[in-house]
Amino acid sequence: MAILARLGAFAGRGEAAAAAAAGEAPAVGDDLRVTLAMKPETATQLDPASLNGGGVSSHIFEGGLDRLTANGPLLRRTDVLILEVDPASAADLDALEQFATTAGARIPVVAAAHHLTLAAARRLMRSSIADVLPIPFTQEEWTQALDSARGKLAQVRTGGGPARSGNIVAVQGALGGMGTSMIATQLAQVWAETKKVLLIDLDVQRGNAALYLNLKPRLSIADLIEADDRLDIEFLNMVIERHQSGVSVISAPTDMTPMDAVTPEFIERLLDVCTQNFDVVVLDLPGVWMDWTALAIQKSDLMLLVSQLTVSGIQQARRQLDVAEANNLGDRARVVLNRMVPGLFGRYDVSEAEGVLRSSVHGAIANDYPTVSAALDEGRSLKQIKLKSKVEKDIRQLAAQLADELATLGATA
Ligand SMILES: Nc1ncnc2c1ncn2[C@@H]1O[C@H](COP(=O)(O)OP(=O)(O)O)[C@@H](O)[C@H]1O
Ligand SMILES: [Mg+2]
Repeated sequence: MAILARLGAFAGRGEAAAAAAAGEAPAVGDDLRVTLAMKPETATQLDPASLNGGGVSSHIFEGGLDRLTANGPLLRRTDVLILEVDPASAADLDALEQFATTAGARIPVVAAAHHLTLAAARRLMRSSIADVLPIPFTQEEWTQALDSARGKLAQVRTGGGPARSGNIVAVQGALGGMGTSMIATQLAQVWAETKKVLLIDLDVQRGNAALYLNLKPRLSIADLIEADDRLDIEFLNMVIERHQSGVSVISAPTDMTPMDAVTPEFIERLLDVCTQNFDVVVLDLPGVWMDWTALAIQKSDLMLLVSQLTVSGIQQARRQLDVAEANNLGDRARVVLNRMVPGLFGRYDVSEAEGVLRSSVHGAIANDYPTVSAALDEGRSLKQIKLKSKVEKDIRQLAAQLADELATLGATA
């Protein structure tokens, strides 16, 4: 209970964020992706049709900064943020300044307000924002605000080109030994056939993803933690090892590392750099809930919860789902049952598990110890060990299903 309360406080978002369904964001090519974070009354007055077109793709989000920052996937798909504020509210102005100078430093912000007086506009312009926009606004005012934001965007994105905005898939086991690292490493290899994939082993005390890929990295996530604010793509490239499949890997430390050596600030920075440089970032997470693991899931598009069809496996999966739901992260959780034994006609029976879990089971993976253990021992893909095994077919099906889901979320550049 204590950890729930603490996680709730950490997440700091009362009833809501779930709705923010990242899926509402439009799928776009090179359009400027504008998110309008508005109070509900204002949102209903906006005409979405007038906000799109001419290289702009807008998404209306009901809620303020606290709800928006809790929605990592949407934030990653935002080039410009139009944020409704009350210029008379010190709390609104503080939050705006805080956002504009930290997480949002890469996202130009236009402050929108009702009854915008000259004094209020001046006050707003003192914070680090791109422009102000009155509510309601004319087409011309809208275009002007976007022009200012584009100018600011060009400044913050020196180096040119829109930042790649990869997807993050977190993989977490309900218990140890469920096959989390097997699934993370094998999914990464399948996706690497068509995408630029990075696997990060964040299981800092038990991580063995590098081992499962037969890599012997000199450097690890611990070196990235030490890099602190020098952490950028060049630093990342020094730590990354490449697997023969093309997967880039950041391994867990070889020394026993305290769980709290990883901080939410580090995760924030790490995942930002990684999604700017990869199509898909796969996280092999430890099975514990800490502030930073919750943040990692908060920033993920999907979270795979890996378990098995055993009493303890299902009970613990339910517990994990409870925590995810209490933190408004239930919408992105997908349950995967590993080491399944097919019944008649090769089908898996997951109905009982679904009943107890009160949740659907999104993937089932065959039990095949000889094939899996050979793949993990030799650091190879299941296909390289045995052609057409059921376990490989199941992993591919899961990979395809998740890729479809990610595509409808409208991310990968
Ligand atoms: N589908 C499977 N069939 C047979 N054995 C498996 C399967 N998935 C994983 N295993 C075995 O289970 C063990 C634990 O897997 P691992 O991925 O390290 O679990 P976790 O990361 O959840 O602790 C490994 O020895 C692995 O060979
Ligand atoms: Mg593991």
